[in-house]
Amino acid sequence: MNKKIGVKILGTGSYFPKKVLTNADLEKMVETSDEWITTRTGIRERHIAQNDEAASDLALKASEEALKAANLTADKIDLILVATITPDMFFPSTACMLQVKLGANNAAAFDLAAACSGFIYGIATAKGFIESGIYKNILLVGTETLSKITDWKDRNTCVLFGDGAGAMVLSASETNDDVLSVYLGADGSYADLLYMRGGGSLCPTTAESVAAGMHTIRMEGKEVFKAAVPKMALAAQKALELAGKKVSDVKLYIPHQANMRIIEAVAKKIDISMDSVFVNIHKTGNISSATTITALDEAIKSGRIQKGDLVELVAFGGGFTWGAAVIRI
Ligand code: ACO
Repeated sequence: MNKKIGVKILGTGSYFPKKVLTNADLEKMVETSDEWITTRTGIRERHIAQNDEAASDLALKASEEALKAANLTADKIDLILVATITPDMFFPSTACMLQVKLGANNAAAFDLAAACSGFIYGIATAKGFIESGIYKNILLVGTETLSKITDWKDRNTCVLFGDGAGAMVLSASETNDDVLSVYLGADGSYADLLYMRGGGSLCPTTAESVAAGMHTIRMEGKEVFKAAVPKMALAAQKALELAGKKVSDVKLYIPHQANMRIIEAVAKKIDISMDSVFVNIHKTGNISSATTITALDEAIKSGRIQKGDLVELVAFGGGFTWGAAVIRI
């Protein structure tokens, strides 16, 4: 019988655009206050991409760092998976744009859309491809330029989002099994609570659709909040069960960074101390598919977690989609 192929996480990387937009800056743009934003969300500042900086440019910088950490050259990658809701364009995929920028000439490439849960969906996809023996070295990226689909006149949403990218290299291994479990969920009946309607086949771009702001994010924040807490808690518990681990086995929980109050409510629901929860929302805002991987990269670089530690990533987003993964770094 063939030996089971395991997954080894070889390295991670991240990148944030240089420009920083603070809550004080936003006070000059819409009727809001630093006090409202920090108490309601925990966000103090976020990074914003330049006009000519696309999702693939951010992805490139994060990927270069991840490849360096993995000690692998781009030509060794045989699949590039990009999770994003802000692709460079509808097609070709951002993964293809990244492939050419990286010179990853031996890689297949495609994008994956699961909104803020995109990176967790990506881990599940990468795990499946590696365990089935189809691909050996996968570059998984979460990259977002949400500033480009934000309605900067809508105070309900424009204070929440930011830009950034994170990357992970996962590889086939006979000795490691670093992705212990992944749990995914979705419920499309909630599509009307968080969406960007314009530009697709349902509502093609017209002068009217642009005038109506349909090319920007719309969200019923309160309703999203209500759904996010139980679904993130459920996902966290299910992934632990699948991994055969207890809450106390996990060194660090890395939840999707959408709102500090959601993060605290989830921690309370699954009975974990905030001491074992990673938070960087104050300096990033919500960067959708890039939140968990950029946070993981920061936790590794800062020494908050060490080789061999168990980490759980948990996310929730538009769709709705949700998911969690228990990994060993
Ligand atoms: N500044 C000042 N006042 C504001 C602002 C602002 N930026 N935004 C809204 N308000 C006002 C509202 O107009 C409202 O005023 P009213 O009472 O006079 O009507 C009041 O503040 C309260 O608004 P709520 O929407 O009830 O505020 P809430 O406490 O729910 O916080 C928030 C809003 C931060 C959006 C929260 O609901 C939230 O974080 N929701 C979840 C978002 C999320 O998790 N998204 C995840 C996925 S994102 C993705 O997939 C791309």
